[in-house]
Amino acid sequence: MADLVSHPDEVKVVSRRFGMGATNLDRYLEMDGYKAVQKALGMGAEAIVNEVKNSGLRGRGGAGFSTGLKWSFVPKQAPKPKYVLCNGDESEPGTCKDRLIFEHDPHAVIEGVIIAGLAVGSHTGYIYVRGEYRYLLDIMQKAIADAYARGFLGKNIFGSGCDFDIYWHGGAGAYEVGEESALMESLEGKRGIPRIRPPFPAVVGLWGGPTVINNAETLASVPHIILGGAEWYANLGPPKNGGTRLFCLSGHLKRPGVYELPMGYNLRKMIFEVAGGIPSGRALKAVVPGGSSTPVLKSDEIDIGMDFDSVAKAGSMLGSGGVVVLDETTCIVKFALRTMKFYQHESCGWCIPCREGTDWLKKTLIRFHSGGGVKKDIDNMYYLSENMLGRTFCPLGDAAAMPTMAFIKKFRQEFEDHLDGKPCPFEKAGAAVMV
Ligand SMILES: Cc1cc2nc3c(=O)[nH]c(=O)nc-3n(C[C@H](O)[C@H](O)[C@H](O)COP(=O)(O)O)c2cc1C
Repeated sequence: MADLVSHPDEVKVVSRRFGMGATNLDRYLEMDGYKAVQKALGMGAEAIVNEVKNSGLRGRGGAGFSTGLKWSFVPKQAPKPKYVLCNGDESEPGTCKDRLIFEHDPHAVIEGVIIAGLAVGSHTGYIYVRGEYRYLLDIMQKAIADAYARGFLGKNIFGSGCDFDIYWHGGAGAYEVGEESALMESLEGKRGIPRIRPPFPAVVGLWGGPTVINNAETLASVPHIILGGAEWYANLGPPKNGGTRLFCLSGHLKRPGVYELPMGYNLRKMIFEVAGGIPSGRALKAVVPGGSSTPVLKSDEIDIGMDFDSVAKAGSMLGSGGVVVLDETTCIVKFALRTMKFYQHESCGWCIPCREGTDWLKKTLIRFHSGGGVKKDIDNMYYLSENMLGRTFCPLGDAAAMPTMAFIKKFRQEFEDHLDGKPCPFEKAGAAVMV
């Protein structure tokens, strides 16, 4: 079980029931539980979609796409059943927020899935939980069973005449399966490799039926929007970046943890005030702002608002909300290597640029870090990454290439300091190097 942290600047929306016993259905009901779905039942599909669209809610899984807009792409009439798929695969290094939602507020996810179903005319939802989160499956399974027992799921939910079923599914521990099309393959019982798009899942998804796929945090935000209203939620963040976000602060910090802050919250403040700054008086070197796939920011690039548009303007991405803080003792070459080891291991191997590219990058970085690098390697790694970008079936290739390019571009000198058989300057100093 994860420890909870808190800070006065937090605005608790998704995390408002954390630590309050909301896994118990009666407790959940005392805290506005299942009120949103009852309100939504009386709203009609179009009104729900518009409410979510106007709230400025953007996907918390990484890409930041407008949730309401995504729902509006689902055809009203379809020859096959429609589905809602909750993505709880959460495997991006640095990101550990969905687990808290499943652990502390599983009924909010169920409510979000039902409301998404009402919005698009679906009667079936799936909640896919990361394989390594085995202990959370028990919580989710019980929450679903409790909801069925009260008539909140199944036939004629809340006496509305509407039927809705939810099934849970545990993954087997593959990062790639968090990618939406690989997720559908996996759920259908096949090997988790991506599908070619178009067609997009909203039109042709699970078993060929139109499918809404959203991250667990995205879906858990929806009941609050339905109850609090689009305007309230939109005004929590800057324009077009509604609401709050569960930021996962990790790395060299005094008070790491998951904090819920308004979208657009200043990154420097997040590091030095909310998470208490860097231990032992060390200086900040760099920040990975949105999970390991997002380009690194240097210490002088962190006076930015943490919302999708501001981080993009700074040349990186808000991604999945995983803020990884690196202090001056971090060897960037080793950090790049550690990151690449992950992507090489997790590449599904279907497309060549990703399978071969991540392997070459990993091998080169290993050689480089151990003192066997030559100057040409630096440009070759950059060039190789550049050639992976946009040339893979799914964005895993981009996720490996983008951070590598940023490490080289922003910390080239550090790569050069490893040349000509020199030992890693950070390891030589005996500093605490992240592996
Ligand atoms: C390699 C890879 C892994 C991903 N892993 C996750 C994940 O674990 N959870 C998630 O919600 N989205 C993940 N995504 C993004 C999904 O493809 C998709 O955009 C997301 O689930 C949509 O939900 P949202 O609009 O609510 O963000 C991943 C994408 C890629 C390319």
